[in-house]
Amino acid sequence: MIELASRSELLQQTLDWQQQVVALIPTMGNLHNGHLSLIKIARRHADTVVVSVFVNPTQFGANEDFSNYPRSLESDRKQLLNAGCDVLFAPSPEVLYPFGSDDFTQVLPPIALANTLCGLARPGHFNGVLSVVARLFNLIQPQVAVFGEKDFQQLLIIKRMVTDLGMSQQIISAPTIREPSGLAMSSRNQHLDTTAKQQAMGLQQTLQHTARQLDQGRRDIKLLEDQAFQQLQHAGFQTEYFSIRLADDLSEVSNHNKLGQLRILAAVKLGRTRLIDNIAWPVSGQQCGKSATID
Ligand code: PAJ
Repeated sequence: MIELASRSELLQQTLDWQQQVVALIPTMGNLHNGHLSLIKIARRHADTVVVSVFVNPTQFGANEDFSNYPRSLESDRKQLLNAGCDVLFAPSPEVLYPFGSDDFTQVLPPIALANTLCGLARPGHFNGVLSVVARLFNLIQPQVAVFGEKDFQQLLIIKRMVTDLGMSQQIISAPTIREPSGLAMSSRNQHLDTTAKQQAMGLQQTLQHTARQLDQGRRDIKLLEDQAFQQLQHAGFQTEYFSIRLADDLSEVSNHNKLGQLRILAAVKLGRTRLIDNIAWPVSGQQCGKSATID
């Protein structure tokens, strides 16, 4: 595995890669098996797999956990080596934000897709995500990039950016990897003690419960959402949102008789730890988002 950190090193590499298919997996590090599963998927599509590790300051709000976000480059490096990653790109902030990260060139997502769900509680979050992902795409020039369905709204917004701006990257989505308990793997899970981890299982259980209600023919979406909200409060979560949306664009369900592909999404807090999760409905439908390429 080679390690790169500067723009000039990257430039040299991208010249060498001209005959190869390169896949990029952007991460913020503190890697777990969820991240590593993206490497396997990337490998199916590319000759060279690049993983970036960068805790992106511009996607954190003023009161969020940027300074406490877990950083563990040493252990990330070992895990990437074992997982067969070819290139680790771990830049300093100046490499991605040469003029600082207070006032910088930004990529803004469409309002309808970004000012809902996670975007409501985290204003500006997706501006930061797109701004850093666009920089990574420009600097690394991958043909393929892999993103997890765990961050479903992020995945759709990135697909939309690529289509809207005519970027050449093919965006591949990857299923959510979970603990045996059903808890979606996340770097933030390490803030949970054993009791909180037990409790956190309730999030996935509530999502599954709602999916079963839809399976049984329930179509009163608002009531299902309210019931799930109550269930989560009862289980000790502070619930930010619990929502059943159209999987294509996260819009609200308007035709209750013809549902199509839905996504059930939630964000909760356990103490100070924020957890998000989502599942597809019907469960078999794993496709998400409109195609990133337009003929
Ligand atoms: P991070 O939270 O580190 O996640 C990096 C990638 O791993 C994302 O595509 C995310 O969806 C995926 N991922 C995280 N947990 C997963 C799990 N349990 N199963 C499968 N995939 C999982 O998402 C970000 O970083 C940042 O916003 C980033 C895109 C890197 C921009 O800074």
